[in-house]
Amino acid sequence: MTRKLNKIPTHIAIIMDGNGRWATKRGLPRNFGHKEGVNAIERTILACLKYGIKYCTFFAFSTENWKRSKEEIDGIFNLLRDYLNKDDNIFIENQVKISSLGVLEPFPEDLKKSLYEMQEKTKSYNKLVVNFALNYGGRDDIVRAVNSLIEKGYTKVTEQDILTALDTKDIPEPDFVIRTSGEQRISNFLLYQMAYSELYFPSVLWPDFNERYFYKALKEFQKRNRRFGGIK
Ligand code: FPP
Repeated sequence: MTRKLNKIPTHIAIIMDGNGRWATKRGLPRNFGHKEGVNAIERTILACLKYGIKYCTFFAFSTENWKRSKEEIDGIFNLLRDYLNKDDNIFIENQVKISSLGVLEPFPEDLKKSLYEMQEKTKSYNKLVVNFALNYGGRDDIVRAVNSLIEKGYTKVTEQDILTALDTKDIPEPDFVIRTSGEQRISNFLLYQMAYSELYFPSVLWPDFNERYFYKALKEFQKRNRRFGGIK
């Protein structure tokens, strides 16, 4: 029997892990895993629309990912470039707003331009907001937030001050964080923001993630009893 979904998370954040392993298992270069990972992103966006999720954040490139080979980094940039420039655009077709977290400055100029253009084109949409975390690190986000407050003249800050200075200031904190591939780590993702998030670590590799796994994740979320430090 299919369990009814009573609780739908407002914001899902995803660490898309396992692309490299997916490719290596097939004797393919790692970038094939990332390529297939883009299809999983597309399936996930459609599933978010289907189940009424309002915000979905994908960890696409971390501040630590610069340590990877130039070939792999260029490969990821190319995938992002193709994705933003393709004709049958999932964002426009489905009224999805695209946004980003992280410091875009070191990215290639044309890539930034494509991203800004897509943000501009989709800025009035509100069915779903998709955030790509790019050159994003949770610690870096907190440090930048605090420094921006210092620049504004603050000498002391509250939790709320920091929340309103983070890259996520315009969106709610994630209710549900999914990391695929069975690894159980946060890896410097939305550190401040996931203080009360429910965490889920399915063993599926990211390129294999599909609507079935998405539904399974939502079913898992039904079982969670969120207390935010209180007593039920
Ligand atoms: C983690 O798997 C995945 C990444 C570091 C990159 C994810 C990037 C994409 C899916 C492409 C980005 C494109 C768009 C359109 C946003 P891993 O490589 O660490 O896998 P492994 O642990 O198996 O080696």
